[in-house]
Amino acid sequence: RRPDPCSFVIFGANGDLTKRLLVPALYNLAESNLLPEPFAIVGVMRSAISDEAFRQALWDGLKQFATRPVDPAIAEKLFASVSCVEGQTDDPDSYRRLGSHLKQVEVAHRIPGNRLFYLATPPTAFAPITRQLAQAGLTQEGEGSGWRRVIVEKPFGSDLDSAKALNRELLSVLSEDQIFRMDHYLGKETVQNIMIMRFANGLFEPIWNRNFIDHVQITVAETVNVERRGKFYDTTGAMRDMVPNHLSQLLSLIAMEPPAHYDAHAVRSEKAEALAAIDVYDEQAAIANSVRAQYGAGRVRDAEVIAYRQAQDVNPESTTETYAAIKLAIDNWRWAGVPFYLRTGKALARRKTEVAIKFKEAPISMFRDTRLGDAPLGLSQNYLVLNIQPEEGITLHFNAKVPGPTVALAPVGMTFNYKDYFESAPSTGYETLIYDCMIGDAMLFQRADGVEAGWRAVQPFLDAWRAAGHAGVATYAAGSEGPEEADALLARDGRGWRKLG
Ligand code: BG6
Repeated sequence: RRPDPCSFVIFGANGDLTKRLLVPALYNLAESNLLPEPFAIVGVMRSAISDEAFRQALWDGLKQFATRPVDPAIAEKLFASVSCVEGQTDDPDSYRRLGSHLKQVEVAHRIPGNRLFYLATPPTAFAPITRQLAQAGLTQEGEGSGWRRVIVEKPFGSDLDSAKALNRELLSVLSEDQIFRMDHYLGKETVQNIMIMRFANGLFEPIWNRNFIDHVQITVAETVNVERRGKFYDTTGAMRDMVPNHLSQLLSLIAMEPPAHYDAHAVRSEKAEALAAIDVYDEQAAIANSVRAQYGAGRVRDAEVIAYRQAQDVNPESTTETYAAIKLAIDNWRWAGVPFYLRTGKALARRKTEVAIKFKEAPISMFRDTRLGDAPLGLSQNYLVLNIQPEEGITLHFNAKVPGPTVALAPVGMTFNYKDYFESAPSTGYETLIYDCMIGDAMLFQRADGVEAGWRAVQPFLDAWRAAGHAGVATYAAGSEGPEEADALLARDGRGWRKLG
């Protein structure tokens, strides 16, 4: 169904996010007939440009970043009702002007007051912009005013305290159901499919607990290096950039209890509960259960990569990690005693996001005298692997008999690949999230308690690492599978990471 007619107001309309992700996503929605009618795009930017120049900039963005072949007629229609206003973050007059502009747009296009404000701005502007919007009465929902919603995108704070402060600020002027905190991982089809796999199939639920699962590995490995993002990245690091958000999303979908309903309230409550059950370590436990590392020089996919500390805008003595691996414990009935190992890093050998669920060994080992005796770690084990990217699918790894007169076992895999079953139009992942916001479904957005629970789990690592300074920053060669220390983190438990290859 098409969402209700609305105005789509973009703050930071001339920025990178708008061009790269919002414009292609809006185009894809238009092509799928999933945009409202009427629909108006209003750009807010620091220095005014004409509506025509803004329209042209959106066109340029689409040409450069479209994920599908562009049909000019659809794009023309999408950009027909585009306009632009000048606005400064802290200037009340700007918001008054925006208010009058929106009223004109709403009259001209017969839009009944529904407004989506997309803050494609640096995170420091989230609180000031929402405050000003509220003070100018632009986010107020009243009788017949239509809905008013605000999308903000990660990072939500840079630690637990700042995340709490941001939530407090946003919630002082908006209600929770007006705030849509976006984590683009939840827009990925395969991430959404975790819930479908778990809760639309009776098969998995009986074994989805400590009685059958030995441990869980969550991997987000990237081949990209810090590139030109040194300024942002050196004050952020792999942990802040990826763990309280993307990896925690994956963890919560795997660990959550079945929700009573498939709706925003029930799903987000169960996800937040799962995160809240993570054991919060003291400093010593945080050090013992973590590895942080920086990449040194190396080669990734045949391209030369310079060491992290030599990268542009990176402090040559930086202690910022480009790789993090941690072991978490979830203290609840389902998961007691089942470690969750998380790892993420840049400049690694392969791009791969996966969740691997390792089942317990067979209770008796009858096949001791077979080839398995000297098989490398991982070969003989039962894993359910959810492949999130780049390949999308699910594989079950188990052992089978090698044909022949002697009893020999070999690992085999049963695989479901998305592309074998479904045709999917290429997407940015933003389509689902923008569409959901327009229809008022917040299930795939983060609620305040979920954001804070994610930060609570990682805060001990941030504190312990800061206190340790340079001590304990390992290194790995760009293009490798990560630091040896990360292997040791699992080896001491008699386990090993699945290979990235
Ligand atoms: C972003 C991080 O949130 O996610 C980036 O800031 C990271 O550092 C990116 O590269 C990964 O997203 P994806 O969709 O490529 O896995």
